[in-house]
Amino acid sequence: MTTSSHEDRRGPDDSTGGPLTAVTGASGALGGRVAKRLVRAGVPVRLLGRDPSRLPQLPGADTAPAAPYGDGEAMRRALAGAHTLFLVSAHESPDRVREHISAVDAATAAGVERIVYVSFLGASPDATFTFARDHWETEAHIRVSGVRHTFLRDSWYLAGLPAMTGADGVLRGPGGEGRVAAVAHEDIADAATEVLLPGGGPTGDTAHDGATYDLTGPRAFTLAEAAEELSRATGRTITYAPETREEAYASRSGYGAPDWEVAGWVTSYEAIAAGEMATVSDAVQRLTGRPPMDLAGYLREHPDSYRHLLLPG
Ligand SMILES: NC(=O)c1ccc[n+]([C@@H]2O[C@H](COP(=O)([O-])OP(=O)(O)OC[C@H]3O[C@@H](n4cnc5c(N)ncnc54)[C@H](OP(=O)(O)O)[C@@H]3O)[C@@H](O)[C@H]2O)c1
Repeated sequence: MTTSSHEDRRGPDDSTGGPLTAVTGASGALGGRVAKRLVRAGVPVRLLGRDPSRLPQLPGADTAPAAPYGDGEAMRRALAGAHTLFLVSAHESPDRVREHISAVDAATAAGVERIVYVSFLGASPDATFTFARDHWETEAHIRVSGVRHTFLRDSWYLAGLPAMTGADGVLRGPGGEGRVAAVAHEDIADAATEVLLPGGGPTGDTAHDGATYDLTGPRAFTLAEAAEELSRATGRTITYAPETREEAYASRSGYGAPDWEVAGWVTSYEAIAAGEMATVSDAVQRLTGRPPMDLAGYLREHPDSYRHLLLPG
């Protein structure tokens, strides 16, 4: 464990900063944002990732040695002394549930008292979106483990909409005319931080125990509406091309991705078509005290997200 000199003098339960929170996925978009917010709030934080050299440098934050979820021993060592675990779901893989189970078991073995898990909207064993089934299995394992827990069920990321639009200006997928209330990483991070903060009221940090929060944007829109918004932002015509299932598999067949991964991509759109992503929740507003960002706001804040769609000149 590498620690700053300040951290060396501070135990996991130091009264100045409260109990230690371990943040996984800290090299990534969501975990990195949450870690930064917790550090800013004065919470003692330990950063976890598969490669410590990819972790951000945050003042006072402690950095664990390499901790892949699937390596129970490494995870247990990395989590020693932590009170709370912010568990970001792993990159998609056929092994993802096993990796999550390994991480959860390591946490309980290390004495972690509370897990805040980043799940997915509509997680269920028969969710249309195949990767959402992994989340349900992970949630089920956390529930039976007996550890205090909170689930953050995120919608599609707003970042995914420009990212999944081709440089040809076409957003393709079998999403039909379904709707999705996609959400910004910033809003998830703010909501997660509220849940993770130790809390000073009569309930302390137990206020969110057992809660499941659907984290969505403020409005559910069709992919055709998303294309219109992208057209306004980019100044060129972006279109939505609804595909059939067969067309969706065919248009992705050239990427050389394994079948399970292509099925995840395709079914993420099919979940929209099936109406499983239309949920609009007020949880971001309730947790943070302000409304979540919509797609227009996201594109305004993140012009880099659609740079690949801009025409030369
Ligand atoms: N809601 C959505 O639309 C949506 C879209 C895509 C993904 N997701 C899920 O949401 C998660 C977080 O999103 P994000 O935007 O923050 O993704 P991201 O920027 O790719 O970050 C993922 C983080 O998880 C870590 N990680 C991945 N697999 C791991 C494993 N097996 N063991 C330990 N650490 C692992 C990565 O660490 P390394 O530095 O080791 O790579 C990275 O820090 C993703 O991992 C994925 O499960 C959701």
